[in-house]
Amino acid sequence: MYKAVRNILVSTALLLACTAGQAQQQPTADASLWWKHAVLYEIYPRSFQDSNGDGVGDLNGIAERLGYLQKLGVDAIWIAPMYPSPQVDFGYDISDYENVDPQYGTLGDFAKLESTARQKHIRIVLDMVLNHTSDKHRWFVESAGSRMNAKADWYVWNDGIPASTPGLRPIQSKNAHTGGKGSVVPPNNWESYFGGSAWEWSPVREQFYYHKFYKQQPDLNWRNPAVEAAMFATMRFWLDRGVAGFRLDAIPTLFEDPQLRNEGETGGVNAQGDPNLDDSRTNSLPEVHDVIRRMRAMVASYPGDRVLIGETYLPNTAELDKWYGGPAHDELQLPMDMLLGFSNKLDAATFRKFISEAGTQLHGSQPLFVFDNHDNTRSIDRYAPASATAMERDKIGKLLAAVLLTTKSTALLYQGEELGMVTSIPTRREDVKDPIGITGWPKEKGRDGERTPMQWTAGPQAGFSSDPNTWLPIPASYKTANAASESHEPGSQLTWYERLIALRRAMPALHNGTLTMLDEKNPDVLSYVRTVPGQPSVFVALNFSSTTKTVTLDLNAAGVTGKPVKTLLTDDASLVPAATISLTPYASWIGITQ
Ligand code: NOJ
Repeated sequence: MYKAVRNILVSTALLLACTAGQAQQQPTADASLWWKHAVLYEIYPRSFQDSNGDGVGDLNGIAERLGYLQKLGVDAIWIAPMYPSPQVDFGYDISDYENVDPQYGTLGDFAKLESTARQKHIRIVLDMVLNHTSDKHRWFVESAGSRMNAKADWYVWNDGIPASTPGLRPIQSKNAHTGGKGSVVPPNNWESYFGGSAWEWSPVREQFYYHKFYKQQPDLNWRNPAVEAAMFATMRFWLDRGVAGFRLDAIPTLFEDPQLRNEGETGGVNAQGDPNLDDSRTNSLPEVHDVIRRMRAMVASYPGDRVLIGETYLPNTAELDKWYGGPAHDELQLPMDMLLGFSNKLDAATFRKFISEAGTQLHGSQPLFVFDNHDNTRSIDRYAPASATAMERDKIGKLLAAVLLTTKSTALLYQGEELGMVTSIPTRREDVKDPIGITGWPKEKGRDGERTPMQWTAGPQAGFSSDPNTWLPIPASYKTANAASESHEPGSQLTWYERLIALRRAMPALHNGTLTMLDEKNPDVLSYVRTVPGQPSVFVALNFSSTTKTVTLDLNAAGVTGKPVKTLLTDDASLVPAATISLTPYASWIGITQ
């Protein structure tokens, strides 16, 4: 295996001298668990592959492309919600948790996809939206029907407070309604992430209901044990159908302050024009951890090391550690580390800090780095300086991939990241599909830009669909950035990803080795070594600057006793063997001891 990989790599003898750093990662227990060294791949089903010519992707389309994913080296796919949904939030408003939306297929199609994927050793992770349902879900329809029904308390309902209450915030007074108790407003200043008050008036119940996201996404009341039981039952429904785990949507927002206290204003307004709030009463409340511990136990009752992945945007590594359960390791196996991948600073010191923290401050838990998803501008557009040339952008994309795939992290890719797909933001409001882009235009243009169809070929509709009216337009970049062309180009992003993933699999040091930072004071070059006893060590050096930099890596100080080092993989064609490595702008270099 190791030999086969070496054959495809540049092989350049180097003798290096390096400076070893102090920060050594803690060993991870149970290295045999599949998700600890997996490559996970997010699929946004609307935009992956359309198999029936309606301009929207579907499950059979995913099945058609499993060969591509297998060749890339993907271990598991996370499929964004494909359940029945009114599609207000493109699937994140679920109206039936135990079925497939007809535009994506059927339960039978899911079963076929699962079994074909299994044959190709690709696991399926489903998106599980626990914070809210669609307002068309039968639970909410029943709950909203009266104040006295079996599900009356399944959502977060409130009578509101008199509109004459002193000290109301504008977001409350703008939302006054008259019912049997006179004119009332929401009980506090809480805002929806998608703009406006988080409280929506129900004329039938003469009450407000709470929604952290769109008003069509009412929040469930997780203080009601029946809600937990019902949601765990839906998770079992899919676990019984063989899914390898769940990505838990918006998991930190499950609970709200029972006293309904106002959130603090932090100054300024957001893209939707509302005051910025500190999120302190509606996010990361301690009660959520009890739910997660019970969920972990429930999922662990199934065989096969099923996994819980969290959508966890958090302020720092100490907060991230709590979502693993800290030293107890009894909550999520893989809460996403968004600190590195959304720092948006192409800066060696920032990367060094977050990689080191993930290795030393998580009680030995396994980090999950993420650079891209369907909610954010693509990473290449966040990390490449505006002045970067096309060639520099190409190298920056490769550098980010090298970080993702050579550090001690489970890796999560988002479809198209491996092709160098760029964000394609709509230029006219009337073209926008994501509701926040319509209400927030022009300041907030929504998330359509990172959701455009997958670019498979240089042919019609980039090979995504036979329908010229694809649900979002095909970006012009598809002519050059597409899977078919890139698969034949040795210097393409796709080839780079394939090689990195193959290396990660073949090299024991990358698979499970310790990571030690090198040359830690260097402001421009991030370098580290991965080691495992009795196996070749793997060195990585990445130039974060726009000028050529030379690094001297001290093998002895790295504990590698001065053995010769060879180049395994680099995107720097000019790199020549020497006692030091000279890296051209944004170059990546990976080498091993012999
Ligand atoms: C996070 C999802 O990734 C996003 O697309 C969605 O709008 C919100 N959660 C609400 O479910």
